Amino acid sequence: MTALDKADALRRRKGGRPIAALTAYDYPTARLLDEAGVDMLLVGDSLGMVVLGMPDTTEVTLADMLHHIAAVARAKPQALVVGDLPIHTYDTPEQALATARSLVAAGAEAVKLEGGVLQAEKVRAITAAGIPVVGHLGMLPQSVIEEGGYHKTGKTPAQAALLLADATALVEAGVCAIVLESVLAASARDITRRIAVPTIGIGSGEAACDGEVAVVTDLIGSFPWFVPPFARPEANVAESIRGATLKYVARVTNRPPSPTP
Ligand code: KIV
Repeated sequence: MTALDKADALRRRKGGRPIAALTAYDYPTARLLDEAGVDMLLVGDSLGMVVLGMPDTTEVTLADMLHHIAAVARAKPQALVVGDLPIHTYDTPEQALATARSLVAAGAEAVKLEGGVLQAEKVRAITAAGIPVVGHLGMLPQSVIEEGGYHKTGKTPAQAALLLADATALVEAGVCAIVLESVLAASARDITRRIAVPTIGIGSGEAACDGEVAVVTDLIGSFPWFVPPFARPEANVAESIRGATLKYVARVTNRPPSPTP
């Protein structure tokens, strides 16, 4: 299937079988998630925090993204591989298209960018070049410094109306899906009802969207130092790693010392 076919298949899931999306940043994880039947693999710029040890996504570079997109793409996933456009690599439509092309050259099949009405021209430039785009509304991690933290949105009628206007502008510009992050469930549900492309929620309420996306480390419990309140871990990989390492250290250090010369 081509990237456009995959993006179209995702778009056609609107109102149908919910979409299961996860982030992935490396080859083995991408392969395992794909073999388990995930629909979309997002090489998100959450990479900065959960893999590279940065405080937020604002330090993630284009080179970081290309490196990890290439690793995920080597798994040759059936799932749609979406790469995040990192901060300040899509400040103009021309720059957005050039960055999107570089992500595609690294192996992405679609790109994701943050923001609504103000990004519509950029979405048009990228989709006109045949590259599918996923939108991202609600809490926008790349704006964490200006916003002074991570805040839920869609809480007031004015915020909900702005979100709907943003979503409508993105759909008109050609996105194949929209991630809704930390949006009040009622507002997420309303947007989901009113727009023609699937919404993919994270921290936006149970069953308010056409699908869900989770950061894989939250799902498998491999990043225990920060777990968002809405995360629902299904494994505890951090404990498995600690346990295996304790056993290894004990096995090696308790063996008889090497013969002295
Ligand atoms: O970077 C990321 O992981 C994301 C998800 C939170 C949707 O954008």
